[in-house]
Amino acid sequence: LRVAILLGGQSSEHEVSLLSAGNVVKAIDKARYDVVPILISRSGQWRLLELQNGVLPDPIPESGAEICLLPGGRGRLLSLTQGVAPEELKPIDILFPVLHGLNGEDGSIQGLAQIAGVPLAGCGILGSANAIDKDIAKRLLREAGLAVARSLTARRGEALSFEEAQAALGLPLFVKPARQGSSVGVSKATSAEEFAAALTEAFTYDQKVLVEEFVQGREIECSVLEQADGETIVSVPGEIVTAASHGFYTYEAKYLDESGAEVVVPADLPQEVADRVRGLAKQAFHALGCDSMARVDFFVRPDMSAVINEINTIPGFTNISMYPKALAATGIAYPDLIDRVIQHGLA
Ligand code: DAL
Ligand code: MG
Repeated sequence: LRVAILLGGQSSEHEVSLLSAGNVVKAIDKARYDVVPILISRSGQWRLLELQNGVLPDPIPESGAEICLLPGGRGRLLSLTQGVAPEELKPIDILFPVLHGLNGEDGSIQGLAQIAGVPLAGCGILGSANAIDKDIAKRLLREAGLAVARSLTARRGEALSFEEAQAALGLPLFVKPARQGSSVGVSKATSAEEFAAALTEAFTYDQKVLVEEFVQGREIECSVLEQADGETIVSVPGEIVTAASHGFYTYEAKYLDESGAEVVVPADLPQEVADRVRGLAKQAFHALGCDSMARVDFFVRPDMSAVINEINTIPGFTNISMYPKALAATGIAYPDLIDRVIQHGLA
């Protein structure tokens, strides 16, 4: 079976995707699957890559044959070189986007798979679109009776003063673009000056911004994996312990500083709390209309109440990433996980 792994993408998490995809390519069972790696450039071109000794080329070349997936083509791929007639390549059997953020994790690529008539590995259009938008996701979670941090939504051009935000949510405030991952564009604000700067920063990424209350708690995450037969597996919870120097789990703490954060699996939680959080993760997954896979992130307060922070439908697969680690600790090793995601997509 030919599995097209999409990597890179038009997103601020392009680099993170390259790390995630490198691991997925390494882990995939090459006796069962032929990997067709496709780089989506920052400007949106699709380019066919070639594996080198079973791994992604390093560095990843920025040039290469441009390809396209044919609408209604059930996986037919065309290679397009300027001045040469398009060449038809061997079709792919499934599209596996290992893309994070906009134009990849937001339903758009999932819609493309649908239109191309090719099976998709991972969460579908609706769940992806719901989960990427932290404003919409919160409303659906609240409606399902699940606890989320209190927040205000600000649209570009609408006034939201520091005084209003502080009166509603207290301090510090967290300001986030509605649709970004890996903490890109997220800042903490404790003064009017910081708040203004945080809004300006967040609005460079999105027209819609969330201002959230600070939740004092531990960062606990669960991996959700829906099987081909519909059974939903939820991993043991893991914990992210961020180095105090970073203040919160920033992009730098995640990917740039090797000692920026520690991933502890399983999280040291009382059994009752672990079980409760796992149950909430499954409810959140369904509340957003997710299928196949997602990672559900929580804050667990000192009194052990849990607040859902967000849901990622293409969670990181980097070396430090929780999604595969938490599932491995639950008895599903990396190659098996990839296999199950592909089989779910084919079912
Ligand atoms: N957005 C990053 C990749 C994550 O959630 O793991
Ligand atoms: Mg995220």
